[in-house]
Amino acid sequence: MDLGLSGKVALVAAASKGLGKAVAFRLAREGTRVAICARDESVLRGTAHEISSHTNTEVFPIRADVTRYDDIKNLIAETVKRFGGLDVLVTNAGGPPPGNFFAFDDSAWEQAFYLTFMSVVRLCREAIPHMQKRGGGRIINIASVSVKQPLNNLILSNALRLAVVGLAKSLANELAPFKITVNTVCPGPMQTDRMEQLLRAMGDIEEVRRFWTKDIPMGRMGQPEELADLVAFLASENARYITGTVIQVDGGLVKGIF
Ligand SMILES: NC(=O)c1ccc[n+]([C@@H]2O[C@H](COP(=O)([O-])OP(=O)(O)OC[C@H]3O[C@@H](n4cnc5c(N)ncnc54)[C@H](OP(=O)(O)O)[C@@H]3O)[C@@H](O)[C@H]2O)c1
Repeated sequence: MDLGLSGKVALVAAASKGLGKAVAFRLAREGTRVAICARDESVLRGTAHEISSHTNTEVFPIRADVTRYDDIKNLIAETVKRFGGLDVLVTNAGGPPPGNFFAFDDSAWEQAFYLTFMSVVRLCREAIPHMQKRGGGRIINIASVSVKQPLNNLILSNALRLAVVGLAKSLANELAPFKITVNTVCPGPMQTDRMEQLLRAMGDIEEVRRFWTKDIPMGRMGQPEELADLVAFLASENARYITGTVIQVDGGLVKGIF
């Protein structure tokens, strides 16, 4: 299927590794010009080089910490300066730390709020005017299955990602007249380097992997590319009538109907 993404401009936040990197790779394979950001500049540059050399597409690395508004303003401004506009925004960030309710004081909640929620608000605020100028656009938020079924020991993620879903649904209504769609994708456990480190830190890696996958009907973790395929579709012209949705990519992990 030709997704019609060739020549479009995308910004994928937090994309030097893991899910963001897989999404940037997938969009670049479609011929989309992609800007990516992360905090560690040398890893970021390496990723940009890797993606552009495999896809023959321009990938623009911009160092940014998405908890800092000045960085976000610069990120969007530099992307538009380099590529002449913006069609697709993929919001993403590192995950908030694990823990239960009494593990976190106000300062930890505040940090997670800026990382998980305000980063999306600010990225959208800066990106939307540029999409309006183009006559349309796509916003895709990377969240987690925790918005459909809370995950044990991840209270910051469970609470704050639901705010992202509320924001996305409201924005979908506000932005539909401008032909800008807003959707949220929800990965279940995905086989990223970070996940591998987490599993290793928890003990015998195969035993921990079995524990994590026992409730997944497909019997395995997802590959980042399996999330990226959905993001690329939602970014495409084919998805023009899909907005305000919250779609999991989880091998059947979420047991509820909606
Ligand atoms: N992997 C999973 O199974 C899974 C499942 C559900 C949800 N998620 C969520 O999906 C998101 C991505 O997960 P992942 O597994 O891809 O993580 P990852 O492999 O650790 O990659 C995180 C990426 O985000 C960047 N990053 C982190 N904090 C940042 C910040 N403040 N500003 C800018 N960039 C930042 C990192 O680079 P720098 O460190 O250099 O900044 C890196 O490029 C997380 O929010 C995670 O909780 C993951």
